[in-house]
Formats: sequence, C-alpha cells, structure tokens
Amino acid sequence: MPEVIGTIDELRNRLGETRDKAAMLGGDTRVVLVPTMGALHAGHMALIRRARQLGDIVFVSIFVNPLQFGVGEDLDRYPRTLEADLQALAAEGVPFVFAPTAREMYPASTNDTRVVAGPVGSLYEGAARPGHFDGMLTVVAKLLNIVTPDTAVFGQKDAQQVFLVQSMLADLNVRVAVEVVPTVREASGLALSSRNSNLDPAEREAATALSAGLTSAQLDAAQGAAAALDAAHALIDAQPLVKLDYLVVVHPQTFLPIESDYRGPARMLVAAIVGTTRLIDNVSLTLA
Ligand code: PAF
Repeated sequence: MPEVIGTIDELRNRLGETRDKAAMLGGDTRVVLVPTMGALHAGHMALIRRARQLGDIVFVSIFVNPLQFGVGEDLDRYPRTLEADLQALAAEGVPFVFAPTAREMYPASTNDTRVVAGPVGSLYEGAARPGHFDGMLTVVAKLLNIVTPDTAVFGQKDAQQVFLVQSMLADLNVRVAVEVVPTVREASGLALSSRNSNLDPAEREAATALSAGLTSAQLDAAQGAAAALDAAHALIDAQPLVKLDYLVVVHPQTFLPIESDYRGPARMLVAAIVGTTRLIDNVSLTLA
C-alpha cells in the first residue's frame, strides 16, 4: 500500500529523505505529482502510468478542494473512496499519497491569499461555476509549492483547467513542466469522470451523446466551424435527458472562441447537465 501522508511537514521530510536516498543510489530524483480529488478511475490510472514514465518519485495527491466548489455545488456529494483509491494506487506501485485535511491546506487563522485566473477563468466552466478556477489554481499552486515536482500531470478532459494551469505557470514563472494525458473513454465514448458514478443507467446512455456529438464534429470539421457545430448539436440536442450548457470552438492558444472564418487547429468544448450531474468533454479539431 502507498504511504499516506497527511501533513505538509511530514511530506517535506519524506520527500527530502527520498530524494537523498535516490541521489545516493545514483538513481532518478525527478519528482512527479499527479494532483487528484480521489474517486480514482482508469483515467487517473493513465495519468499515474505516465507519471511513472516521467520520474521515479511519484506523489499522488488526493484532496477534495473545497475552494473550487461554489455554494450549492456538489462538494458534499463528490465521491470519496480513499480505501479503494489506495488499493488502486498500490496496484500501480505508487509509493506516496498526499491526502491532507482541509484544515491542513487552509488553516483557519491565515490563508486568505488566492490565485486569480485571467479572463478565460470566467468563460465556459468559469461562467457556470464562478470562482471555480480561482479555487483550482490556488490549490494547484499550493500543491506545487508543497511537493516541488519537476513535472505535474493533468488530464486533457479538463482542457480549460489545463490551459489555466499552463497560463498560471507561465505568468508566475513557475518552473514545473506540465504533462497532459489524453482523455480515457468507455467503449461507448463517454469520457471517464468521477462524476459518472452519479448517473443512472438511462442518464449514462444519454450522456454518450456528448462524445458522439464531438466525434461527429471532428468528422465535419473539414467543412468549417459552423458545420462542425451543427454536427455536434444534431446529436446532443436530440437527447432529452441532456441539458446543454455550452458548445463552443476555441483557439488552442488563447482559449477564446474562434472567429467564424478561422481555419486551423481548434478545440471544441462541451458541458451539459445530465439528470443532476454536470459533465464536460472536449476534442481537438482541424478546421478547414
Ligand atoms: O482535476 C482535478 O481533479 C482538480 O481540479 C485538481 C487539479 C486536483 C485540483 O483540485
């Protein structure tokens, strides 16, 4: 089983010892962090496998960060499965898990400083979940400062999160490399997400319209952005259980909506409420 570390002091001691030991043995001292909120699934395992290729000292953090949940969001309902998570991490040979309490990460007496995302932080997921990205960036910054990894690994499924983390690291001159791992999907196409466990069978079936819509958009991207959007809408809007929040094509460099005559690489983002569960997905497109 991985060693579960609950405090920042303990983590720093363990990290120091592990680095010293690895250096003494002439081994790899590259530290890789996989930040998670737990409820681990095959998508997380893909991140962890990639992390193990990138360095020997792999830390997985498991922390359901209250700061990135708004009032009335699913903080209480967010799945917490620490025992099962540890079993899964043991099977992957992960040596260390950092699982702090909220009090450890945000001591009551201090801790008012926040990272504020730029304008893209208020679009798409940020429009639906005000403050979400400030909370996410704040905890990511803290985790990076605590673990001091060489590389941090994130999933492409949270494309806007990846964009904002990369922007934060560039803007604040943080020397941590970001590794982005492709989205893992069920055979149905549904992108793996911890929130999928909230879907009943009918909702799960309906939710496949999101990935089907994105795939259809990829096929029609050669006819331009409008055709790609129409193709995705045709499948997503046909599902009565899927309430579309946004479907947008963004420029990969700015993450802003593309101009209607734009040609080149782009990313299509979708978010919808299926039953009571908010799901997101995205794919790359080449618009011709
Ligand atoms: O993607 C997630 O699970 C979270 O947003 C992260 C990066 C662990 C920060 O809490």
